[in-house]
Amino acid sequence: MKEQLTIALSKGRILKETLPLLAAANIVPAEDIFSSRKLIFDTNHPHIKLVVIRATDVPTYVEYGGADMGVAGKDVLMEHGGEGLYEPLDLEIAKCRLMVAGMKDAAPVKGRMKVATKFVNVTKEYFARQGAQVDIIKLYGAMELAPIMGLADRIVDIVDTGNTLRANGLEPMEHIADISSRFVVGQPSMKMKYRQIQPILDQLAEAIAAKR
Ligand code: ADP
Ligand code: PRP
Ligand code: MG
Repeated sequence: MKEQLTIALSKGRILKETLPLLAAANIVPAEDIFSSRKLIFDTNHPHIKLVVIRATDVPTYVEYGGADMGVAGKDVLMEHGGEGLYEPLDLEIAKCRLMVAGMKDAAPVKGRMKVATKFVNVTKEYFARQGAQVDIIKLYGAMELAPIMGLADRIVDIVDTGNTLRANGLEPMEHIADISSRFVVGQPSMKMKYRQIQPILDQLAEAIAAKR
C-alpha cells in the first residue's frame, strides 16, 4: 500500500511555474486550482494531495508534518530558519534578489537606521553581521512606500526587474541573497516515506535540468 503524501504549494506568483514541474513528475491536480476556492486538491494519484496556502505558511506546514513536502521561496525559507526541513532541490523558478534599498541618492543615515521589511529575522541577522545596530519596522507588503512616507531609511525586499523600486524613486543598495524557489521535505517524512518521495525528487530534478 502506498502511504498518503501531501505537497504544500505557495499560492501567488510561484504557483503557475510550479505546476508544470509537478506535471513533469506526473503529478497533476484533478481540477483547475486557479478557478477553485478549495484549499485541498486531489491529483491523478489517489495517494497524493496538494494544499495551496500562503507562501509564508509553507515551511510551517512542512515543519510540523501538516504536509510532507512543499514549494517555497528561499527568502521565505531563510526567514523561517529551515528547522525540520530538508531542501533537496532548487526549482530554479521565481528568481529574484533580496536587497537593501533606499531613496535614490539618499544621504547617509545619521544615528540608528530604521529598516522596514517583512523579513525581520533575515534583516536582523544581515545588519548584525555588518556590526550595524538598526531598528526594524515590520510591514506585510508595499515596503517601497516606507522610505517615501518617512517611516524608514531603508527597506529589505525582493527585487526582480527593479521596476517597483524605480517607479517609487528608490534604488537598490546592497545585495543580501540570490533567491529562487526550493522544494522542501519534512525530515520525518523523508525518513518514513523515502521510497515514495525519492522518485518524485528524481523526476523533478530531470524536469529542472531539461529547462536549463
Ligand atoms: P507574497 O504574497 O508573500 O509576497 P508572492 O506570491 O508575491 O507572495 O511571492 C512568492 C515568492 O515568489 C517569494 O517568496 C519570492 O521567493 C518570489 N518572488 C516575490 N516577488 C518576486 C518577483 N518580483 N519576481 C520573482 N520572484 C518573486
Ligand atoms: C514583489 C516585491 C517587490 C516587487 C519586485 O512584490 O515585494 O515589491 O515584487 O519586483 P520588480 O523588481 O520586478 O518590480 P509583489 O508584486 O509580490 O507584491 P506584494 O508581495 O507586496 O503583494
Ligand atoms: Mg509578493
